[in-house]
Amino acid sequence: MSDSVDAIFNKTKKGKALFQNRNALSTEFVPDHLPFRESQTENVAQVLSPALLGSKPSNLLLYGKTGTGKTAVATFVVHKLRTQDDTKQIVTAYVNCRLAGTEYLTLARIAEALPMDKDKRIPLTGLSLSEVSSRIFDTISKHAIHLILVLDEIDYLVESTDETLYKFTRSGEDTAPGFLTIVGISNDLRFKERLGARVLSSLGEEEIIFPPYTMEELRSILEERTKIAFRAGVIPQSTINLCAALAASEHGDARRAIDMLRVAGDVAERDGRQSVDEDSMRKASEKIERDAVEVALHSLPLQNKMIIIAASKFPGGTNTGELYLTYVNIAKKSSVEVLTQRRVSGIIAELDTLGLLEAAIVSKGRKGRTKRIKLLVDDDTLRRVIGDDAELLELH
Ligand SMILES: Nc1ncnc2c1ncn2[C@@H]1O[C@H](COP(=O)(O)OP(=O)(O)OP(=O)(O)O)[C@@H](O)[C@H]1O
Ligand SMILES: [Mg+2]
Repeated sequence: MSDSVDAIFNKTKKGKALFQNRNALSTEFVPDHLPFRESQTENVAQVLSPALLGSKPSNLLLYGKTGTGKTAVATFVVHKLRTQDDTKQIVTAYVNCRLAGTEYLTLARIAEALPMDKDKRIPLTGLSLSEVSSRIFDTISKHAIHLILVLDEIDYLVESTDETLYKFTRSGEDTAPGFLTIVGISNDLRFKERLGARVLSSLGEEEIIFPPYTMEELRSILEERTKIAFRAGVIPQSTINLCAALAASEHGDARRAIDMLRVAGDVAERDGRQSVDEDSMRKASEKIERDAVEVALHSLPLQNKMIIIAASKFPGGTNTGELYLTYVNIAKKSSVEVLTQRRVSGIIAELDTLGLLEAAIVSKGRKGRTKRIKLLVDDDTLRRVIGDDAELLELH
């Protein structure tokens, strides 16, 4: 065993290291130049600039699909704003609402950025949401703080109601002479539909759209990033082109492109190659695809997993009726609640959105239309992932 470990380390030492700064491909890395986002960057800066003179900027909503630079632009501008602040009243806070977990914990994270009095600190549980909000507003008011609050993945803050957000967008009197401005970020394009009109009008005072990157833009972003991350000459242009093409195939997602670059570098190093060739890039792309499917599968609720298992019984595809009957059998055997066909149809649509199965409407001529359903997860992956669930495996 120790021999094989030595062999790995020796191979690494002997082989030419391909990376020169692997961190430049990590999710936390924010480049100091964001090409193709100049107008969005300037727009955010323009909207927030009144804070430098002590006035409250408008609230702002950044919108766009995943990997289009929203977080990078917001973090970049807010950081600049802080360094340029001569009023010494600006406080900036960044909270990712999804990672924070709950509304309560999001508020607790906001409070962490503020000079809360000892007796007003937010314990990890126990207070009502409105009590936590008032403590935050009191602190802003007491110290006349000008808070610029970035709420990333803000859609997670309005799972059930938009009450907290409403309070925050209407906190003028409670926070005076301080104020708070919200920079909300979302990649859920349906998020706005979940907001009441009153929140929407104040939160979306200014709205900035982030379109997906084109393939050429991705290529150029990748070229810049490879110069920082890899040693000169280890990435052929053809590999960068392939990476850009693969990442642009769904929508131009810079995160996916950069992730692929990192994984391809790892693959090439592990295989002891002298360069990150196209083959390593293809392997990286497949691995990322597989991982994404596994994560999606793994986090499914039990009922959804059962529908996946039911679908796996029909390698050639099936229709809604047949799939439903199979699901009912599985559900009965494992003594869980049997959902109605309507609910199951809803779940099938969700699984389709996740890319785990394909549900296409097909015409049956005069007999009307039906849905053709085909599982997109291969058998090995399915066994590996839901093998964790002993109960389910028995059914498989
Ligand atoms: N214009 C750009 N130039 C260089 N790198 C970029 C650019 N846009 C995005 N990136 C990089 O791509 C990755 C994803 O960007 P970012 O995190 O800002 O996406 P996002 O729009 O917030 O996506 P999500 O909605 O999934 O959170 C980051 O590593 C970021 O540094
Ligand atoms: Mg983001």
